[in-house]
Amino acid sequence: MSEKFTIGVLTSGGDAPGMNAAIRAVVRTALANDLNVIGVMHGYEGLLNGEFKPMGPRDVGGILQRGGTVLLTSRSKRFQEPAGQRDAIRKMNEAGMDALIVIGGEGSMNGAHALSQQGIKVIGIPGSIDNDIWGTNIAIGTDTAMNTIMEAVDKLRDTASSHQRAFLVETMGRNSGYLAVMAAIVCGAEVALIPEVPITADEVAATVEDAYKRGKNHAIIINAEGSGIRTTDLAQRIDDLDVGFKTRMTILGHIQRGGSPTAYDRLLASRMGVKAVEALIEGKHGLMTGLKGKGIDFIPLGDVISNKRKVNMEYFHMAKVLAR
Ligand code: F6P
Repeated sequence: MSEKFTIGVLTSGGDAPGMNAAIRAVVRTALANDLNVIGVMHGYEGLLNGEFKPMGPRDVGGILQRGGTVLLTSRSKRFQEPAGQRDAIRKMNEAGMDALIVIGGEGSMNGAHALSQQGIKVIGIPGSIDNDIWGTNIAIGTDTAMNTIMEAVDKLRDTASSHQRAFLVETMGRNSGYLAVMAAIVCGAEVALIPEVPITADEVAATVEDAYKRGKNHAIIINAEGSGIRTTDLAQRIDDLDVGFKTRMTILGHIQRGGSPTAYDRLLASRMGVKAVEALIEGKHGLMTGLKGKGIDFIPLGDVISNKRKVNMEYFHMAKVLAR
């Protein structure tokens, strides 16, 4: 077993563009400080199975600009159970892993906190297109997803306005309306349907009809996947009510999760990766890196998992005003 302090790094949950940039930053910062790094494959599932790979500087070459995660990922049910966590800790000990860096979303931070409670030195790095993690202004991957949505809606608007149609666009975000609200602002949508604000299909139809009567030649409606109204049902209802525009719909789906990370995400991921390793060197753990103002801060994992991030309603209202 190596004498050097050894850090494990894994990605977990839904992949997000920029995760590779974070892995690269973790590996190279650790190596620059004469530490060992072990890459854990397949997230927590690989941790409890002992799927480990020593990481050298060349193992993270050419990945900065790539979406997805070279360490692969999973949503591990077994790791949510105490028995799975015990297996993972045993495997970590056998491999001589002194600390772990977990890159992932809300569920991944729950896992990181569980390990931390059992004495493992853990630092979390928020990575999720949903931007639903409490404690950071923005997570790695959100900016890229936002840009993907924006490009798609810009294209849809071209055809929507040529045919004077209403286009319904479904964004990801499970329990969070963040992507939908921000998309409504940057794409100039009439209305955003989000899980946080209940609305009926008839109310949406009335908004679309109003836009028609105000002389708009197209309408964009953003529907967050967790809004409670299925995009197909909404399109049907708007058509049935004959509001002026005929409808078409596009479900963006996993397109939003892929692609080369934006400069913003590469920078954020690099900064967080460096800070995560530096924290471990300084003896800090049980924390998540978070963007606060312009700097990278550390937030206790216990706080991260016990708070729910809410959509900023100021932006929700702003989207409405700007749609006049
Ligand atoms: O958490 C990221 C996310 O993309 C959500 O927006 C979405 O609801 C979910 O993952 C989809 O998960 P899966 O890739 O397992 O279908």
